[in-house]
Amino acid sequence: MKRADRMFGVVVLGGISLTAAGPAAAASARTTDLAGDGLRTVGITWRDRMRQAHLSVGAFALLAGQLAEQGCDPVVLSLVTRASWDAVRHAEICRRYAASLLGEDEVPARLEGSPSLPAHPGATAGDRVLFHVVELCCLGETLGAITLTEMHARATHPMARAAIESLLEGGLDHGRVGWAYLAQRTREHRTRGLAQALPEMLGRMCREALSPSARATDEPGGLEAYGFLARRTGQEVCARALRDVILPGFRELGVDLGPAQAIVRQFR
Ligand SMILES: [Fe+2]
Repeated sequence: MKRADRMFGVVVLGGISLTAAGPAAAASARTTDLAGDGLRTVGITWRDRMRQAHLSVGAFALLAGQLAEQGCDPVVLSLVTRASWDAVRHAEICRRYAASLLGEDEVPARLEGSPSLPAHPGATAGDRVLFHVVELCCLGETLGAITLTEMHARATHPMARAAIESLLEGGLDHGRVGWAYLAQRTREHRTRGLAQALPEMLGRMCREALSPSARATDEPGGLEAYGFLARRTGQEVCARALRDVILPGFRELGVDLGPAQAIVRQFR
């Protein structure tokens, strides 16, 4: 993000520079009129986003291992491998923005932990890798990119915009690679069991999409300028993403949405 680099001088939110952001970053966010509860609410969501990005590092690394074991198009393998690296960078961008709002002491300098992917008992290793790609990329990352795009459309503060732009950089590929892999498996007629696994995955996606903001029941207004989606807006974005992008994507690739009818009906 050349523009952001110039705008913030040493902050370099969008660049890959992992040198400390320095006091300039904190000062830049604090000189806004965002204060008190609003500042904390936005800061906490970015700290949560940092944790999610950190967990994505391990998730994509696991996925890359499974894809390498099962074999896939080299383009898919390289994008999934790169997604793990992107997630390291994204976690750092989130950390810096969160620290600029909450203060360095309230945001961990580094995190530990990696997620365990759903077990899908009874599935073969080949089926399982497809289910993991669909859940992580076609669902999670596609929704994530749409959410960030909506957030960007509402954000006016330059630092928030720069942070969101940096997350979208590379981040858009994380969803696309999932659809590319699903298309490959469809061509190979190797999507057995996906239709039956989909309802649970969609259920998890809807729950998770709604839960992070569910905590902020008393969220103050006027925060969208700073990289924040109100709970209600987040729910609308999730519904739109399913209706306009995700479900049509499955239909286009011939995935039977019959078993997921209960969820699909809500988003017609
Ligand atoms: Fe991502």
